[in-house]
Amino acid sequence: MIGDAAPTPAPARAGRRVASHRGAPEAAWYPVCRAVRKGGPRRVMLHGHALTVDQPGTMPELTDADAEDWQATAALGMVWVRRVAGMEQATAPPLPAEDLEPDMVRVCYSRVRVATDYDQAVLGLVDPAHVPMVHNSWWWRSDPVRKVKTKQYTPSPFGFTAVSCDAFASAPVYDLVGQDRSVSIEFRLPSARVEYVRSKGFRLCNLTTVTPEADGRIALRNLIFCNQPLLVPAQPVLSWLGRRFLSQDAVILETLDSEADTGSPLFAGPPDQPSLWYYACKRALLKAQGTGAAFDNPVEPSILRWRT
Ligand SMILES: [Fe+2]
Repeated sequence: MIGDAAPTPAPARAGRRVASHRGAPEAAWYPVCRAVRKGGPRRVMLHGHALTVDQPGTMPELTDADAEDWQATAALGMVWVRRVAGMEQATAPPLPAEDLEPDMVRVCYSRVRVATDYDQAVLGLVDPAHVPMVHNSWWWRSDPVRKVKTKQYTPSPFGFTAVSCDAFASAPVYDLVGQDRSVSIEFRLPSARVEYVRSKGFRLCNLTTVTPEADGRIALRNLIFCNQPLLVPAQPVLSWLGRRFLSQDAVILETLDSEADTGSPLFAGPPDQPSLWYYACKRALLKAQGTGAAFDNPVEPSILRWRT
């Protein structure tokens, strides 16, 4: 990988080690299971706690003895939970559901559990350079020739958003949408990657999340929503493809975890700038939650360029 940054206010310095605030913020929403009405109680894990989710009506309920320490809600066909004990007033990033347009229906749901570090998994959502090394399915990447890619990053609520500046598309599957498409990829704390694809009459939202089930164990989820209900019957096939995609990340994450040392992560070059922003945003969120102040987004508008 190479990286030659266009002018940017806050370039990543080569070989920079970052003292990170490791781990998952607790006063933030994470998906824990699918929302199923009248499906009976289900056991889920979050932050190392076993929780029981019941859903007798439209909204899920937690039925454990310490249920008042937690809050549950339903959105995007999922149950989301956050810890509230001692943090009732803490600012929590809004759910991605608030951005979803009402005519979009779910066409894909995939989940893969991984034995890995939480932060390492979230870095996998924001790292643009891992794609050619990890996601090598024919329908995702058919051209082995590396190209220079340029993306414009801007701060967005509780994170940052990237818009591609290149005319070419990375993945053949995008060609199905048409050449006039626009693609933006948002990262939102605590651990959501939200990709929007828009073309003439076509809109798609591709959501990937990381849930910290326990120390060293996470769940990767991928949900795709689209304004084309004709794709709903294809959900089993699309979900199978989604699991294959997530499994490619899982293999790398478990390999990295087994070879990890205990030092601070090392970041170098423009492709790692989003990883630095992730840690900076998380520090800003924890500071805001600790002081009661508004979230002060540390991301500066930037253009990043690398070979992919
Ligand atoms: Fe990936």
